[in-house]
Amino acid sequence: MRELREVFFVDGVRTPFGKAGPKGQFWRTRADDMAVKAVRELLRRNPAIPPERIGDVVLAATAQVGDQGLTLGRDVALLAGIPHTVPGFAVDRMCAGALTAVTAAAGEIALGAADIALAGGVEHMGHHPMGDDVDFNPRFASERLIDESAAVMGRTAENLHDLFPAITRERADAFALTSQQRASAAWANGVMRETVVPLAVFTDDGWKVAERDEFLRADTSLDGLAALKPAFRAGGRVTAGNSAGLTDGATAAFLAAEETVGELGLAPKLRLVGYAYAGVEPHLMGLGPVPATKSVLDQAGISLDDVDLFELNEPFAVQVLTWCDELGISADDPRLNPYGGAIACGHPLAATGVRLIAQLAYGLRERGGRYGLTALCIGMGMGAAILWENVQ
Ligand SMILES: CC(C)(COP(=O)(O)OP(=O)(O)OC[C@H]1O[C@@H](n2cnc3c(N)ncnc32)[C@H](O)[C@@H]1OP(=O)(O)O)[C@@H](O)C(=O)NCCC(=O)NCCS
Repeated sequence: MRELREVFFVDGVRTPFGKAGPKGQFWRTRADDMAVKAVRELLRRNPAIPPERIGDVVLAATAQVGDQGLTLGRDVALLAGIPHTVPGFAVDRMCAGALTAVTAAAGEIALGAADIALAGGVEHMGHHPMGDDVDFNPRFASERLIDESAAVMGRTAENLHDLFPAITRERADAFALTSQQRASAAWANGVMRETVVPLAVFTDDGWKVAERDEFLRADTSLDGLAALKPAFRAGGRVTAGNSAGLTDGATAAFLAAEETVGELGLAPKLRLVGYAYAGVEPHLMGLGPVPATKSVLDQAGISLDDVDLFELNEPFAVQVLTWCDELGISADDPRLNPYGGAIACGHPLAATGVRLIAQLAYGLRERGGRYGLTALCIGMGMGAAILWENVQ
């Protein structure tokens, strides 16, 4: 019987994240060029990996049109100067695009189809607003296959508040404040220097260097958050302050087989222990990471107590609080998003997964610990979780 190979996360980088729209730092930058920048920095930082040894380039985007539409893995690899002998493809699982790129690439490595893979994602939500050009099949409504609120992520977040009244606006705002405070501290302490790649961008004011996340607000206060109006429903609880903003950004990572790590003398950061995707009711999509987390822990035969660090996406504070309450983790647990999360840095849908993994690798090295979990929820009612072991 053939044996599967162990897969390691070698390194991962991201661009700074920008506000989508004409006022954002990437408004005049192409999505594929942002991904190229992340890929080129990854190649530069890992000179022991000969580009011709990359077995596949797997890049995700939710909107696969326009400047992020040309089979991204292939398009970006050629633009980044990777030899034409290296193939590539594009994947979409909305917010879990980059996580799916990583697990798809890991599958190729485990089966021996590739020794090294490059995986990541890009989303330019300014150029490609969420849901643009989506043509929902009328059967979804006529046959009541999904609740109509499932199509708007902010409304699914309000549905979670309805379902779990113990998660109040106050708790959501307090979580958002912590996210902003932790992210500001992380930037001030140089945490982001390791994973964030500055890039030159052309703006209305000429050339600039984009080097910071534009959603960071060190001045955030509980009073300021409390004053914000609900964004998705009159009388609702989800606001611009306790949600991740609409974001532009790109990420890229190297994965490698155990044998190749040895052969090339690489210093990997994490071993992939297992992963799980799960489905939930689409109008409660934020619940998705709960069954995904349970499933991946079951596969590994460990419990949440054994996990030393959690990097959870934060599309909405209520979504993370749901995960905490359902799994019995305190929202103040020091293992949860110690460097802040998407509420403070943004969430460029299909790019986010690799941000979580790179941040987890950094955190496990700095804080110590064996196991780490990256998880996020996915539109149309899904969740993703990957369990990692620290090998640094
Ligand atoms: C919530 C949402 C609609 C807000 O959009 P927006 O109104 O364009 O957001 P803005 O950045 O302009 O912020 C709105 C206001 O809140 C204020 N604000 C935002 N964060 C704040 C904070 N931490 N403290 C104080 N004020 C804050 C802004 O300054 C702005 O104030 P202004 O109107 O006086 O200028 C948008 O971010 C969104 O759709 N987020 C969810 C994205 C999503 O669904 N992703 C997928 C998840 S699965």
